Amino acid sequence: MNVGIDAIHFYSSNYFMDLRTLAGVRNVDPDKYTVGIGQEKMAIPPPDEDIITMAASAAHPLIERDGKDNIELLLFATESGIDQSKAGGIFVHGLLDLPARCRVVELKEACYSGTAALQLACSAVARNPKTRALVIAADVARYELASPGEPTQGCGAVAMLVTANPRILAIDPEVGLFTSDVMDFWRPNYRDQAVVDGKYSTRVYLQALQDCWKQYCEESGRGFSDIHRFCYHLPFTRIAEKAHERLARASGVTVTPEQIAQQVGISLDYNKIMGNSYAASLYVGLCCLLDNEMEDLSAKRIGLFSYGSGCVAEYFSGVVQSGYRDRLLTDSHHVLLENRTELTYRQYEDIYNLAFPTDGGGHTFSRYRTGGYRLAGVKDHKRLYEAVL
Ligand code: HMG
Repeated sequence: MNVGIDAIHFYSSNYFMDLRTLAGVRNVDPDKYTVGIGQEKMAIPPPDEDIITMAASAAHPLIERDGKDNIELLLFATESGIDQSKAGGIFVHGLLDLPARCRVVELKEACYSGTAALQLACSAVARNPKTRALVIAADVARYELASPGEPTQGCGAVAMLVTANPRILAIDPEVGLFTSDVMDFWRPNYRDQAVVDGKYSTRVYLQALQDCWKQYCEESGRGFSDIHRFCYHLPFTRIAEKAHERLARASGVTVTPEQIAQQVGISLDYNKIMGNSYAASLYVGLCCLLDNEMEDLSAKRIGLFSYGSGCVAEYFSGVVQSGYRDRLLTDSHHVLLENRTELTYRQYEDIYNLAFPTDGGGHTFSRYRTGGYRLAGVKDHKRLYEAVL
């Protein structure tokens, strides 16, 4: 019996800033952003949107189409948690009106947690194939103003239904795993922005890839030529091209820029205009590949590399199922990304500097363009969400 992704959909903010605008203000050559790190735009969440509203907006179309019966597990992966105690997934469970017979927990390990959630969901469904699991990864990537990480900011949420006999991607059981206690990127509880040793983080990412890939090949007996398309965790898209060169070299293969474009390039386009969405980022790339690859990928194997700073990494793969295109929500992704509102630098900085109320009083938030759910306000230290479908 196969287990894997039966449905997938992502949501990101309706607002973005063009990185050429940022380059102008920071007095940086725009090519550094667009070519050097491979990013064009960054998605910016308005004050009435957070990981919960984005997560619910990502999952809503799946629940609408495929129903909520037998969803007995909701795993919510994030490093932008809104509460030290309560799992963010419970708010989403409420907003989506999911069955009470459901386990809900939040998972954290930087950008890796989405993959931990997906693999745990596969195990749970394999144990009881009559049930389904809802995996959601949602994050807001936030760095200090004028820091090297600033142009890699972004936000987004991905929702996946994990089932037996999945209709999109059957996940292979063989994996390569890597954990090492490193301080390349972290966010102490008292900080809103990550602390990052950027260049070091990039080196650790590439080293972890090499280790995971070697193990994956040994365990699966597969090699470079067995993988048809490659998806990488995307803190910024240029890293995927470097990672792919590294992976090919480790396999004794030389790849031309044209081959990199063919094997990896199609997965990058959404992230280029959204920025990093941490735990969701790899799966936004997967959506981009499935939505936009002209070739029929049925029966083809896709390799996926997941990296979370700190760090945990995993190489795994999946086989695309025939008829997968009928299950995709490509139009929804395209409509969202094509209809966003551009922010000026001043508007971006104003939103960035808004402090979340912590006085326990009642506050209502101005209404911006959001998905199907918004954060209406806060009162008595409780976030108040509303559906605006
Ligand atoms: P930086 O230090 O400002 O950039 O920040 P740089 O000076 O290294 O330049 C970047 C690239 O642009 C270089 O290319 C330059 O040559 C090129 P490279 O040498 O790397 O090939 N460049 C130009 N290209 C064309 N025209 C120009 C030009 N100028 C320069 N005029 C850095 C880069 C990635 C370090 C920064 O953005 C950063 O700190 N980002 C945040 C951390 C990050 O994304 N790390 C990635 C790995 S860790 C990870 O993926 C986990 C993460 O997602 C978090 C999690 O797990 O939760 C981040």
